Amino acid sequence: MEKKILIVANWKANKTVEESLNWLKEFKKRWRRRKNVEIVLCPPYTALSPLRSEIRNWKLGIRLGAQDISPFPSGAYTGEVSGEMLKELVDYVLIGHSERRKYFGETEEMVKRKIKRAKEFGIKPIVCVANFAQIPKEKNLILMYEPPSAISKEGVYRPCDPEKVAQTLSLWRKKLNRLNPLFLYGGSVNRENVSSFLAIREVSGVAVGHASLDPEEFFQILKNA
Ligand code: PGA
Repeated sequence: MEKKILIVANWKANKTVEESLNWLKEFKKRWRRRKNVEIVLCPPYTALSPLRSEIRNWKLGIRLGAQDISPFPSGAYTGEVSGEMLKELVDYVLIGHSERRKYFGETEEMVKRKIKRAKEFGIKPIVCVANFAQIPKEKNLILMYEPPSAISKEGVYRPCDPEKVAQTLSLWRKKLNRLNPLFLYGGSVNRENVSSFLAIREVSGVAVGHASLDPEEFFQILKNA
């Protein structure tokens, strides 16, 4: 049986609404749906609603994800976007990305609270971790293994060695077996290396940052996936 894979595009703080819609228009010209591949687009909050409308209009079957979620409920929390607001827009949410930990002081405690909020609203958390200690010990989580040193910098790719990823994840699998996690890999994934990460037994998908910003490049990644 062909393995079911998740390809997550993390646009980070990139793309206006207009640019996001243009991306989708270009991408849809090339892409044909595949049963075993689920695409999760994570644009900035501002583009979620317009993208959702277009995805529905064109029946593209692409999923949306948010890049963050408030640890608080709806209410007097200026600047926050709550799970209640996100649930009508997204199926997934990235939580604990290393950039949030680094630039926004996100702690393990915060990550746990965000996971709880996501689950409360039926949004699937994709929890990003750089090491074993950061893994919340909860059942059935989607864990994205992403060492910060592997994240592309100014368009320069510096991926992990797939063999090392395989070793790390099989060790984690042994330790976490009871919790039944699903593992993704993230960090400098591009059209050249995507197949080597997806070939790893423990890897059920990848997250793509920089290389997802260009619809043609992202299409090529899917083609090689
Ligand atoms: P990158 O980013 O693909 O540009 O390395 C991945 C990520 O940070 O999710």
